[in-house]
Amino acid sequence: MAIISSKTPPNPEEKPSKSGTKSVKSPAQQGQLPLTDKPTVVGQPPPQKAPDAPELLQADRQPEENAKQEEKIRPQSIDEYIGQRDLKEVLTIAIQAAKGRGESLDHLLLYGPPGLGKTTMSLILAEAMGVNCQITSAPSIERPRDIVGLLMKLQPGDLLFIDEIHRLSRVAEELLYPAMEDFRIDITLGKGQGARTQSLKLPRFTLVGATTKIGALTSPLRDRFGLIQRLRFYEIDELTQIILRSSELFRTEISQAGAEEIARRARGTPRIANRLLRRVRDYIQVKNHPRIEQAIAAEALSLFNVDPCGLDWTDRRMLTVMIERFNGGPVGLETMAASTGEDAQTIEEVYEPYLLQIGYLSRTPRGRIATPAAWKHLGYEPPTQQLPLLS
Ligand SMILES: Nc1ncnc2c1ncn2[C@@H]1O[C@H](COP(=O)(O)OP(=O)(O)OP(=O)(O)O)[C@@H](O)[C@H]1O
Ligand SMILES: [Mg+2]
Repeated sequence: MAIISSKTPPNPEEKPSKSGTKSVKSPAQQGQLPLTDKPTVVGQPPPQKAPDAPELLQADRQPEENAKQEEKIRPQSIDEYIGQRDLKEVLTIAIQAAKGRGESLDHLLLYGPPGLGKTTMSLILAEAMGVNCQITSAPSIERPRDIVGLLMKLQPGDLLFIDEIHRLSRVAEELLYPAMEDFRIDITLGKGQGARTQSLKLPRFTLVGATTKIGALTSPLRDRFGLIQRLRFYEIDELTQIILRSSELFRTEISQAGAEEIARRARGTPRIANRLLRRVRDYIQVKNHPRIEQAIAAEALSLFNVDPCGLDWTDRRMLTVMIERFNGGPVGLETMAASTGEDAQTIEEVYEPYLLQIGYLSRTPRGRIATPAAWKHLGYEPPTQQLPLLS
């Protein structure tokens, strides 16, 4: 498998910036790929962070180094891909069936919060099918010629991965409809009265779309995917396995309890688990500890402001602002963004899903509410009166 073009979004923590264009290599070809890595769209600058926010959930300081490490620990086959049992079962069946018939895989839509393994799974799929994987992200293919160029380059069976597919421009989306359904593309030649439409045949290919916001997809686009699969947050034992596996690849000694301690603070997300592991690994190295034990992991992570249930500085700030300034809510998304200095989209796509999952936040038609559990976690006495849940 080869990756022909590679434009992925920045780390999830950097979303919704469009500026990152990092290479993701196919597992089979790590370390040997001459990747074309030219961004076609100049992105917007990343959202302004609050000045003293810690960087654990933000982009790390050495993005290139981290990207290399991330590639090293990215699972390379379905067997190495930990957790997501249902997803793996569905895809294993789809792969076997498609291979048995000598066909390409049906179009697949993967959705779920950032860092849960959507890109990884699509690379694994291409590997399993023995096909090329072209990676791009919706903001990079805004203009018709971007998407036409991409589609025209496809070889039979290729897998086309479009990240952040909910951000496709309307023209790009409309060009994709016949491409997905009938494997053809309709292009308009000329202008004005002399303009004519020409249909070009495309090879059969598989579109894998990834999104953190399935609700933002138009239904005609959603309906064209044969498989729609959600990735869920990982359980502690699954994250523990991921951390143990990554430690082995990093050649870092770690105890089971040490791995569990990191897993508990990883917000159900493999990417965060691996990032926390890197921080703890730095910490034991500097402090001259031979191995990651539970106590040292806890010590390191509290230094990095990650609390025992994985909340970081921004989570706590969001909840504190809601409690102190708005008596727990309801608070609208934009108000929350303005009061915390965070970008609204980052709040919605990166921070909120986990807070909703652990029951610290609830969404109502009038805005977000910090639940009594969140009040208690932050050391506040929750109000005795029941908060209004509906407008
Ligand atoms: N099931 C898994 N088992 C082991 N490691 C995993 C798994 N899923 C993800 N990872 C690790 O987490 C990292 C992030 O995964 P990935 O890049 O696939 O997430 P994503 O869902 O595409 O995120 P985004 O929405 O930001 O694009 C990978 O580099 C990989 O090392
Ligand atoms: Mg991804």
